[in-house]
Amino acid sequence: MFEAGAELVARSAIDAARDRGQFTIALSGGSTPKSLYHLLASNARTSLPWGHMFFFWGDERHVPPTDMDSNYRMANEAMLAKIPVAESNVFRVPAENPDAAAAAAAYAQTLQDFFGINPGQVPVFDLVLLGLGPDGHTASLFPGTAALAEKSRLVVANWVEKFNTHRITFTLPVLNAARCVAFLVSGTDKAAALRSVLQSDAPGEQYPAKLVRPANGKLIWLLDRAAASGLSDPA
Ligand code: 6PG
Repeated sequence: MFEAGAELVARSAIDAARDRGQFTIALSGGSTPKSLYHLLASNARTSLPWGHMFFFWGDERHVPPTDMDSNYRMANEAMLAKIPVAESNVFRVPAENPDAAAAAAAYAQTLQDFFGINPGQVPVFDLVLLGLGPDGHTASLFPGTAALAEKSRLVVANWVEKFNTHRITFTLPVLNAARCVAFLVSGTDKAAALRSVLQSDAPGEQYPAKLVRPANGKLIWLLDRAAASGLSDPA
């Protein structure tokens, strides 16, 4: 599964750099993508158009970039610090700001400036990487949280009661505007949520990953056998 993920990133980057001169990718956090980032840093070290690649995060914990829980720190240690990419190509969430809403607004402004869009417009990422939580959340769009209903803001500070903290997250309009969204899901602990997301009539509010439906883009689920074990006649 990680090799398929690395191939997808490589192919998407090469095509985007050729066709549009740049490749924009939103990285996912948590633990699953770490092996993918390692793989990209090791295998693809020479073959990717790193100079044309621009890195963002689909969500971030409300912690400084040095914190163990930081999605930026994870991706930096696993990949960014090992590849020839300029710091100016890396756009992390300013999550060290004690004001989570201000951090979210600042990151939304970063998206607007980079993509050259006006308020009300939505950036179109080439590739958005996402994970799936055992509760069906993705990015930091958790079941029953306020961010699920957001229709206009690009990035919000989403209060997550069970963690007693805010998470800074892309909203559905940004995820669903992407040219390609790829979920990487690994492990038996995700099998039940995956079945609910892919093969049940449960509402999206209960399983937010169901709400990720790119309007004009591809939706790819990269699953290992354990994660897919709950699906009926998986491919
Ligand atoms: C985060 C992620 C989150 C993650 C899932 C799965 O900040 O935690 O962006 O959405 O993808 O929680 O996490 P694991 O890969 O650790 O199971």
